[in-house]
Amino acid sequence: MKYTWRVAQELMRMIPPAFGGFRKALKDTSYEGYDIPKGWTVYWASCGTHMDKDIFENPQEFDPSRFENQAKPIPPFSYLPFGAGVHYCIGNEFARVETLTTIHNFVNMYEWSQLNPEETITRQPMPYPSLGLPIKIKQRCNMS
Ligand code: HEM
Repeated sequence: MKYTWRVAQELMRMIPPAFGGFRKALKDTSYEGYDIPKGWTVYWASCGTHMDKDIFENPQEFDPSRFENQAKPIPPFSYLPFGAGVHYCIGNEFARVETLTTIHNFVNMYEWSQLNPEETITRQPMPYPSLGLPIKIKQRCNMS
């Protein structure tokens, strides 16, 4: 299910489930002209790189194929749905299996459509459909 995972990856690029995280500066640091004193808490936000057009061409466009045949590789620490470094999400592989299993079963077992196709995503702080995602759902008849 390689392409299905590309779809999930692209979704997490545009709407990262966790929109960032915190790190503590262990020593005085200088970054792009900013001095960050030792002990400060720094917040990293994934949208800073996920929506950077120099890293992801046409970042507002939903394009799962950007994760295959990359002309330009994604620089390290730029695609961060599961974070990065020593605290990188320990459950990322499990999350991938859960995601693919859910999509596989849902697509194979049901036909569905959104009642409000223009429904937006809000944050609570996790991404959440603003209207609760009402759908019309029908069981596929070829189910055994
Ligand atoms: C789509 C699903 C998931 C997403 C988007 C996600 C995202 C994240 C992110 C952004 C972090 C912080 C990483 C960092 O600070 O660099 C994190 C940490 C963590 N995640 Fe996940 N996660 C997911 C699923 C899971 C699952 C299924 C588990 C466990 C079964 C899990 C367990 C953890 C743990 C234990 C940490 C803390 C790791 C540490 O501090 O060393 N996550 N996750």
